[in-house]
Amino acid sequence: MTPMTPMAIPNSPPSPLDPPPRLLMGPGPVNAHPRVLRALSTPLIGQYDPVMTGYMSETSALYRQVFDTGNEQTLLVDGTARAGIEAALVCLLVPGERVLVPIFGRFGHLLAEIASRAGAEVHTIETPWGTVFDPEAVVAAVRRVRPRVLAMVHGDTSTTMLQPLDGLGEICAELDVLLYADVTASLGGNHFAADAWGIDAATAGLQKCLGGPSGTAPATFSPRAVAAITARRQVEAGLREDGDEENALRIGSNYFDLAMVFDYWGPRRLNHHTEATSALYAARECAAVLLDEGMKEAVERHRLHGCAMAAGVRGLGLEVFGDQEHRMNNVVGVLIPDGVGDAAVRAALLADYGIEIGTSFGPLRGRIWRIGTMGYNARKDAVLTTLAALEQVLRGAGAKVVAGGGVSAAHEVYQDDQDGARQGAAL
Ligand SMILES: Cc1ncc(COP(=O)(O)O)c(C=O)c1O
Repeated sequence: MTPMTPMAIPNSPPSPLDPPPRLLMGPGPVNAHPRVLRALSTPLIGQYDPVMTGYMSETSALYRQVFDTGNEQTLLVDGTARAGIEAALVCLLVPGERVLVPIFGRFGHLLAEIASRAGAEVHTIETPWGTVFDPEAVVAAVRRVRPRVLAMVHGDTSTTMLQPLDGLGEICAELDVLLYADVTASLGGNHFAADAWGIDAATAGLQKCLGGPSGTAPATFSPRAVAAITARRQVEAGLREDGDEENALRIGSNYFDLAMVFDYWGPRRLNHHTEATSALYAARECAAVLLDEGMKEAVERHRLHGCAMAAGVRGLGLEVFGDQEHRMNNVVGVLIPDGVGDAAVRAALLADYGIEIGTSFGPLRGRIWRIGTMGYNARKDAVLTTLAALEQVLRGAGAKVVAGGGVSAAHEVYQDDQDGARQGAAL
């Protein structure tokens, strides 16, 4: 056996953190909004301070507007978006119950894996990466499988696709199926209406269209979901009474016990964990920034800059990936031209321009780059700078690109938008 090399211990204390300036144009994380960065450096206060509990209540109220819901149980799960997904699925499902996961990218596989670890009987349907499901196909699978939970990704960053969810809530309510949506990548940049669409549980992350750092998962739960989560507690107690400690423990996560988290965020304020104060400040500011702009306006901004990026990519002579009718507003997949190295281009963009774009996973690995225009980075200057830099790097890598074609195609989209707005104003 080779002995492990001990880590080098520096003789002097490390110098203060000084990360290089970066323009994060991948599929998330993106640069946090300056207001959010300021919120992160706001002084800490104690978790029982009425000002802190007041911030928690405000944060719930703000996220009700972001999710477009009246759900009382709208709160933050402390942890990255995956923590929100895990909390929701672990608490909605009792081991042995059926879950249906329609998979159209990497994150559908993640939902299936988390549900399987929660002890659920997992059923999946799949559609090729780059496409979405016809909602009728999902409805047919729900009728066939009769799951307790239908778990769907809304926007899958791995493929850039946005799955239509509208219409599924009705059938789920009719068949007593709980509808869960992972809106990590889509919330804030694409239309989402929890109540109008009959969504029972939805969880998100800050690091995409919400424009914050990763590490917090805003989440919302309908009264039906809350009832299921509470009932599950009784199943756990019943298993214990029957002496089935093994299965009782299996459904007994403490950190993700949403019933306890509800009690912490609710009027009783029963302490569960120590709320992550700075993360809460950031999450509150993300929602405030978004709502100051207006949800409709924020979605429209993401649409405009996403269109400009897609047009720019085409203007360079490159191809965009997937069904463009169902692309998320905030991520564009770009087919990597033949003979060009995926990693080399990304490395040159980072080294020479400080710009990060994303690679891809699974069947798309080495086939596409993913370029995000989201949150604070859904901006004209960020789009134009990225396109100009991409052109230079591609040319350096020996790819044939249309000189100036990316920036000018994006400019056209912005010009058309201004002309449209002027015409609208004149009417
Ligand atoms: C749709 C979707 N779900 C879940 C996740 C996981 O998020 P996190 O890395 O914050 O746990 C991501 C991250 O990219 C995502 O895009």
